[in-house]
Amino acid sequence: MKQLIFTMPGAQQLAEDIADQLGLPIGQLKEHIFPDGETLFRVLTPVSDAHIILVARLDNPDAKTLRLFLLAEGFRQQGAETVTLVAPYLPYMRQDIAFHTGEVISAEVFAKLISERFDRLVTVDPHLHRFLSLGDLYDIPAQIASAAAPMANWIKRNASAPIICGPDAESEQWASKIASALDAPFFTLKKVRKGDDEVEISLPNFDFGKAESIVLVDDIVSSGATMLQTIRSIRKASPDLDIICCFVHCLASPETLNQLRGAGAHTIASTNSIMSSVSNIDVASEITELLAPIGASSS
Ligand code: R5P
Repeated sequence: MKQLIFTMPGAQQLAEDIADQLGLPIGQLKEHIFPDGETLFRVLTPVSDAHIILVARLDNPDAKTLRLFLLAEGFRQQGAETVTLVAPYLPYMRQDIAFHTGEVISAEVFAKLISERFDRLVTVDPHLHRFLSLGDLYDIPAQIASAAAPMANWIKRNASAPIICGPDAESEQWASKIASALDAPFFTLKKVRKGDDEVEISLPNFDFGKAESIVLVDDIVSSGATMLQTIRSIRKASPDLDIICCFVHCLASPETLNQLRGAGAHTIASTNSIMSSVSNIDVASEITELLAPIGASSS
């Protein structure tokens, strides 16, 4: 079976790491942006009868999705057998309910658009909250790589005697896994969101015991409001704890990260699902593990 890895602009290094680990070649593309802003892709490596793995970083999705679709459909026009999407960050998952009358449930729409164009999806820790599995949203096989082990390894190296803390109920799924990998205590806070960048956090009574550091674990940091309030609450409750933030997906701007540092975050890290100045936890191997069986069964 012929297999090729292609990269959407912006995911080159991750795609190369996955290609190296799978021993697969990287296909070549050329991209041209016309003066009117339209994109023309040219697929330079023949894809006829090939199984394609397309690696894409889908933060800022509105600017990237049409180009992703142009490429996926382009592979099919040229005879590709299947197209698998590797999107380490899966966008639109937080819009999983109509909070107010008339709101579009974008998670469903996005899942439909992807399912119509790809044969399979591989992602890293998507924000599953009101939908409990990707199968409830996506009509194609969808697999989840977990960032818990590489995050736990990073914490082991960077935090001494840590307590793990999730800022809200949803974060328990990540915080508990990481805490159990580290054999560390964990607790979660209560969060009420008042707006895009306004949240209220309440801290339960918790005995910090002999902990020297606290690692605030969340799947996503975006406006930073959740983390900012969490850091402030922790500082108030236990001013001597070393505060470390560890995220799966960092959507925050450099200014927001600096705000977190200013509030008391000593160290910040996230996975490389999205590129930022703090994305130093590599999840390429976790993704490769899910892709490898296809290669094995094909030879
Ligand atoms: C929400 O449930 C997520 O797990 C994160 O807590 C949230 O997306 C963080 O967003 P922000 O940084 O804008 O507060």
